Amino acid sequence: MIHRHVDFLVIGSGIAGLSFALKAAELGKVLIVTKSNEDESNTKYAQGGVAAVVDKSDSFEKHIADTQIAGDGLCHVEVVENVVKEAPERIKELIDYGTNFDKVDDEHYDLAREGGHSNHRILHYKDITGYEIERALLEKVHQHSNIEILTHYFAIDLITQHHQGVHVDRSTGDIRCFGIYALNTRSNTIETFLSKVTLMASGGAGHVYASTTNPTIATGDGIAMVYRAKGKVRNMEFIQFHPTSLYNPKESPSFLISEAVRGFGGILRRATGESFMEEYDERASLAPRDIVARAIDNEMKKSGLDFVYLDITHRKRADIIAHFPNIYEKCLSVGLDMTKDYIPVTPAAHYLCGGIMVDEKGKTSIQNLYACGECSSTGLHGANRLASNSLLEAVVYAHRIFSDASSTLHTLDYATNIPSWDESKVQLMNEEILVTHNLRETQKLMSDYVGIVRSDFRLDRAIRRLGFLYEETEEFYKNTKLSVKLCELRNVIQVSYLIVRSAMQRKESRGLHYTTDFPYKSEELKDTVL
Ligand code: FAD
Ligand code: SIN
Repeated sequence: MIHRHVDFLVIGSGIAGLSFALKAAELGKVLIVTKSNEDESNTKYAQGGVAAVVDKSDSFEKHIADTQIAGDGLCHVEVVENVVKEAPERIKELIDYGTNFDKVDDEHYDLAREGGHSNHRILHYKDITGYEIERALLEKVHQHSNIEILTHYFAIDLITQHHQGVHVDRSTGDIRCFGIYALNTRSNTIETFLSKVTLMASGGAGHVYASTTNPTIATGDGIAMVYRAKGKVRNMEFIQFHPTSLYNPKESPSFLISEAVRGFGGILRRATGESFMEEYDERASLAPRDIVARAIDNEMKKSGLDFVYLDITHRKRADIIAHFPNIYEKCLSVGLDMTKDYIPVTPAAHYLCGGIMVDEKGKTSIQNLYACGECSSTGLHGANRLASNSLLEAVVYAHRIFSDASSTLHTLDYATNIPSWDESKVQLMNEEILVTHNLRETQKLMSDYVGIVRSDFRLDRAIRRLGFLYEETEEFYKNTKLSVKLCELRNVIQVSYLIVRSAMQRKESRGLHYTTDFPYKSEELKDTVL
């Protein structure tokens, strides 16, 4: 059995993992373990861009206020202030790494606007900002002799004292992370990785739902791993549904129609052609996402249709194509010319606002384990993330974690007495359908019962069904040779359970959590911690 030792072990090769790796490599050896191709990540598909105050017409105060308004009272104020104020420096770093952002002239960036922003402040590269950032970061990573990337390695579980045969109570807070077990999906063997510092940068969990903008890697693995290792997770009920994914029932994942299209003047319309967002919010089509997604959900329920329309036809054809070349091409490929036709759009699960609870340094409740990016809950997003604050959060926290780790690395050592993974009692799976069926069932029940509008009755149904799926899958997991699909199913069920439990605990409607049983906000501002 292979045992490897590294100073820094990074799980995930999106913006969070790569940004941290580039910094940590100045201090020691870094190993990035990633479950698919090196660039496959939510990051790669980010369209709109990165929010930051880089123009004189804007101010930190405005970005802070916009973030807090979108977050509906639950943002942690000091976190918002830190992230917004540290943004320009981190953006400069991305540019120094070789990231291109569109400019209007030599000195000024072409800043876009999205829902909830009171200013144009989104730096972007056409409508493929994430692809450009991922390209630049990977190029830089490849140049660094201290960084190694292992692709097609699936992190299964964190190694803690539990694996040394020591029982640790969830409440004592003395759980330590020693590394991970990972499945080498090419050789089908399970390897042991021991580290001084581990960073969880495993991204989001869109595939908990049947319809999502996220690529298939987004199965909430890191969050499930941390919870299984008795770490804390927070605010899991706040699932952001992006209001405008392209309506195309034949396609999964759903293709995103960037909010920047609405920032460019796009108007949401009923099938009859009337615009409707003015009836819901004075910010109309540029209201924060929770409000727009709920309004669309309501319109779809009224009309009986599975979509509404997005109309950008009033803007000049050449300008539309110049700003949104990727979206334009995608629409053409399904027979729509967005310069002439309305685009049918529908909400889809997009972003997990909660996640692994971290402090202002990015530390989780498990020692020697940090979390960064979409899998983490820093307190920035509150009950609803402001558009384009996610890429930003990842680069700010990657730096904060690096600063903290640089002062502790010399005090840390590798754990000993870690057993290899025991596969002696398992059998080969001969029916994949058991896994695919349970995954589909989980995704369907989450979409039907734990979507944009919730109720106690639906949550109750969801948790009972999840309980059954959990037991069946755990039994299967214990007795079957591991595969990525089986591990992902287990994680999706675990994360679904965390979402439902958190939703059941929140007896109010706030931000992205709306329940017909408690339609109002409570006086009390409280995070949900599990
Ligand atoms: P990711 O980029 O998702 O990377 C996670 C990595 O972890 C991947 O490499 C994955 O393979 C790996 N991984 C996961 N599980 C395992 C495992 N078990 N073992 C090993 N490796 C694992 N945000 C913005 O701020 N602006 C935008 O314009 C924007 N547009 C978006 C558009 C789309 C279509 C989507 C889906 C998201 C968008 N977001 C946007 C959100 C943003 O892209 C993500 O939140 C952000 O990129 C997350 O970065 P990350 O590094 O945390 O995770
Ligand atoms: C988009 O381009 O609409 C996505 C932006 C985001 O998720 O922040």
